[in-house]
Amino acid sequence: MNSAEFKRRRKKLMRIMGKGSIAILPAAPVAVRNRDVEYPYRPDSDFHYLTGFDEPDSVAVLIPGRKQAEYVLFCRERDEEKERWVGARAGQEGAVADYGADDSFPIDDLDDILPNMLEQCERVYYAMGCDPELDRSMSEWISAIRRNSRSGVVGPVEFIALDHILHDMRLFKSRGELAVMRKAARISARAHRRLMREARPGMTEYQLEAEFVHECTRQGARFQAYPAIVGGGDNACVLHYIDNRDELRDGELVLVDAGCELDYYASDITRTFPVNGKFSEPQRQLYELVLKAQRAALARVRPGAHWDEYHQAAVGVVTKGLVELGILKGKVAKLIKDEAYKAYYVHRTGHWLGMDVHDVGDYKIDNQWRELEPGMVLTVEPGLYIPHGTKEVAKQWWGIGIRVEDDVVVTRDGHEILSGDVPKEIDEIERLMAAHRKRAA
Ligand code: GLY
Ligand code: MN
Ligand code: MN
Repeated sequence: MNSAEFKRRRKKLMRIMGKGSIAILPAAPVAVRNRDVEYPYRPDSDFHYLTGFDEPDSVAVLIPGRKQAEYVLFCRERDEEKERWVGARAGQEGAVADYGADDSFPIDDLDDILPNMLEQCERVYYAMGCDPELDRSMSEWISAIRRNSRSGVVGPVEFIALDHILHDMRLFKSRGELAVMRKAARISARAHRRLMREARPGMTEYQLEAEFVHECTRQGARFQAYPAIVGGGDNACVLHYIDNRDELRDGELVLVDAGCELDYYASDITRTFPVNGKFSEPQRQLYELVLKAQRAALARVRPGAHWDEYHQAAVGVVTKGLVELGILKGKVAKLIKDEAYKAYYVHRTGHWLGMDVHDVGDYKIDNQWRELEPGMVLTVEPGLYIPHGTKEVAKQWWGIGIRVEDDVVVTRDGHEILSGDVPKEIDEIERLMAAHRKRAA
């Protein structure tokens, strides 16, 4: 993302805030994995969205209309010794020169400088409960201002949830964001195709995961948006299965839910395919049903449709299909009303997608499902899961877990599928798998 886009976002937020306000937004802390080993640093999405700055120990402050500086970035000072070990820091000069801050101070001076900024504002935009340490400081600063009221200082009288405003901004993706998301989905799609080519009975789930990560990393996406789910057979029925330890067996399906993160934007794709390259008859029937539900859901992804519409479309198709296959018994309308499908279709049909895989943004406004609008990105991911030992169901269906998931942007006249580069029709999958087997033989 270029610096103009970050600047546009800050300007937009400041327009919403108006004069007399201050927004305070901390960076995420470093997370420790064990002892002195840290996880690779991942900035908080809200913080990165506004600043493009990816160093911990930073606090961004926006004060619309302030003469000296509207955008102030508190960050670490340069430190030759530390930088030699763990890499360069922007420092105060870099914060201004490279990240568009109007002014910058060392993070260690926050306690001395921020209270003065705070006491001159009426409204504070701040996400309470996200950073306990800053919450504590905020409360101390505000109490100190209150104690000082006899000297005529009034200070803030209104506190507004900054995260809620930012999340609504983040829900609508710009052209620049869509370009990154398109690229992320394309890289993940390529990695999914690789898995279809490489899968063989006798391989392990983690070997497929390794192929996925390898392909994404090769394409410049060094991080996954979430840990890959690679579940063979019954493991596919565990929704967030990430052990990925078991052998992939002949005759079983494997479900792969995996997506890279690129420039802090997620992709989230699921494909399910036969380990040996050929769907069995029961697998084929259930797979066709999931695919049909996905098609019905996709048809409802367009401006003006409300959020629940595409889920209900999928539920309708799944319920009818389960009755036709003899898995559910009864009248379709009643089974839908009683939510009987939930025994096998246990999740909703999708979620917002963006900088976070389960991205931010309200699904309801004033208690009504939100209408879809151009620029929103969501997943469409119906699934069916029948674990071994499901007594109410004939044995031929046991151990089948299927999900098909695509990433979709709402456009002015419908939608665009970002993850279309990976096959999902049965004959396409079987053809791709067979072609590679022939070459490899
Ligand atoms: N990968 C998590 C999900 O599909 O929601
Ligand atoms: Mn998803
Ligand atoms: Mn997923």
